[in-house]
Amino acid sequence: HCGPWTRQTLTLRSPHCSEDEKDPAYWNERAKRTLEWALNLAPMTRRAKNIILFLGDGECSAFLLAQGGPGEDSRLAMETFPYVALAKTYNVDRQVPDSAGTGTAYLCGVKSNAKTLGVSAAAVYSKCNTTFGHEVHSVLHRAKQAGKSVGIVTTTRVQHASPGASYAHVVNREWYSDANLPKEAVRLGCRDIAYQLVHNTDIDVILGGGRMYMTPRKTPDPEYPTDPKQAGTRKDGVNLVEEWLSTKEGAQYVWDKKGLDAVDEYSTDHALCFALAGLFEPKDMKYELNRNASTDPSIVEMTEKAIRILRRNPRGFFLFVEDELSFSPTRGRIDHGHHSSKAKQALSEAVMLDRAVARAAQLTDASETLTVVTADHSHVFSFGGSTPRGNSIFGLAPKKAEDKRPYTSILYGNGPGYAIANGSRPDVSSLDKDYRQQAAVPLGTETHAGEDVAIMAKGPMAHLFHGVQEQNYVAHVLAYAGCIEPYQTGPECPSPSWRSGSLGPCQPSTLLLALGTACLLLGV
Ligand SMILES: *[C@@H]1O[C@H](CO)[C@@H](O)[C@H](O)[C@H]1NC(C)=O
Ligand SMILES: *[C@@H]1O[C@H](CO)[C@@H](O)[C@H](O)[C@H]1NC(C)=O
Ligand SMILES: *[C@@H]1O[C@H](CO)[C@@H](O)[C@H](O)[C@H]1NC(C)=O
Repeated sequence: HCGPWTRQTLTLRSPHCSEDEKDPAYWNERAKRTLEWALNLAPMTRRAKNIILFLGDGECSAFLLAQGGPGEDSRLAMETFPYVALAKTYNVDRQVPDSAGTGTAYLCGVKSNAKTLGVSAAAVYSKCNTTFGHEVHSVLHRAKQAGKSVGIVTTTRVQHASPGASYAHVVNREWYSDANLPKEAVRLGCRDIAYQLVHNTDIDVILGGGRMYMTPRKTPDPEYPTDPKQAGTRKDGVNLVEEWLSTKEGAQYVWDKKGLDAVDEYSTDHALCFALAGLFEPKDMKYELNRNASTDPSIVEMTEKAIRILRRNPRGFFLFVEDELSFSPTRGRIDHGHHSSKAKQALSEAVMLDRAVARAAQLTDASETLTVVTADHSHVFSFGGSTPRGNSIFGLAPKKAEDKRPYTSILYGNGPGYAIANGSRPDVSSLDKDYRQQAAVPLGTETHAGEDVAIMAKGPMAHLFHGVQEQNYVAHVLAYAGCIEPYQTGPECPSPSWRSGSLGPCQPSTLLLALGTACLLLGV
């Protein structure tokens, strides 16, 4: 009997069930239903009120999950999206890209050099004086200018490369706080990413990690007050959290799950004037398998809170959600005592990202929300070995290799998993959960890969994601779909007065007028 695969639990070995699959009718009926669905699929050619961009690090993991996690034939929420395209991820100066260059592409619409954020390729890595005049603005920034509410949610520090590309213009992705800037850069007027988070784009919801870059040196961390390594790092003595709170009406700051849960998104105290920053760790947030669910929110919980706040704006919202899928094993992670297998870590993150995608769908109207799921780049990761159905994806290939030793179906092209000693591979027949898959070439940190990544899309204008495209095309479709600069005019786009009128999300004095206008224009 073939029961439904369960997606709720992360099973490492799925029951293999073959009876139905022996019958051609099983495959023919399934394919016929899919064909009927495809024949009825009509492009949604209206513009989108809301845009949600989900980013997972490591495309391969999503497919892998579908292949071997909850069951080979199960479907992720993101796999039900009707439109798929491939993106070429190279940076202007690199065949195999980094997350800063790719972030600039899919968020700002322009390819750039590796390790630079929000600047064109005319800017040179780490050369402060090449920043100025070469800034490029993200679709999130332009969505804000179009009157939408905007937010970023990430499991990394909010100053990290991917979310950073939505608001910062910086020639070195590691300039997190002013303490990370060379003296020369400070002298020439370059600003750190944390400073730019608060001063560049008026972001309504900021959720992730990264507290230590926001407060003056030696400011004790609220969660780890006795650990000097987790304390504030700023040399300029500025408390950016306080600055953010003081310049925004109705703004709230939280640093743990309890605080986040207590935020009342239904509060009418400030009406449209509502902003939330939540920074839950000094640096990156913990991986899902290591997360303490009573102190830190999950990506699903952060996504839900962000949408509940952002959707208050009748002009719609733009939300960027990033989950670091942690596919690449690094020495750093071992040092920090993460004991789970690296592939397993990545798999649970992928499950959570997909749950966030599913949750977002429940909280938004599919007919007015463009939802896109993509990756910034891939990893040198492979999954092979003629394994039988139902094999644990962390398990062994059925046959031995030519050195008479077994091998795992997951292998890395390079990385810390290199294990040749005295000319031979160690035995891999005892696999515990800490097992580190082997790599062909020794490196302290496994590298990214240069292959294309998938873009999955649903909602208004989702059909524009088709074929094989340059990665910077993503930002252009998002902007076009949302009537965002440079695509703000067009028959279906709201009038300029609607965009620039009195409905600033944070103008309480004009609130009633604004709401009245909103209702009129929306025909409510
Ligand atoms: C930038 O600074 C470097 C020295 O750090 C100098 O050689 C170069 O000419 C400067 N470039 C510009 C455009 O000012
Ligand atoms: C989670 O955090 C709470 C509060 O600090 C603590 O009491 C609890 O022991 C933690 N749980 C785990 C599993 O570490
Ligand atoms: C490699 O060989 C040397 C000398 O025979 C031995 O001391 C060492 O332990 C071996 N290393 C491994 C990983 O087997």
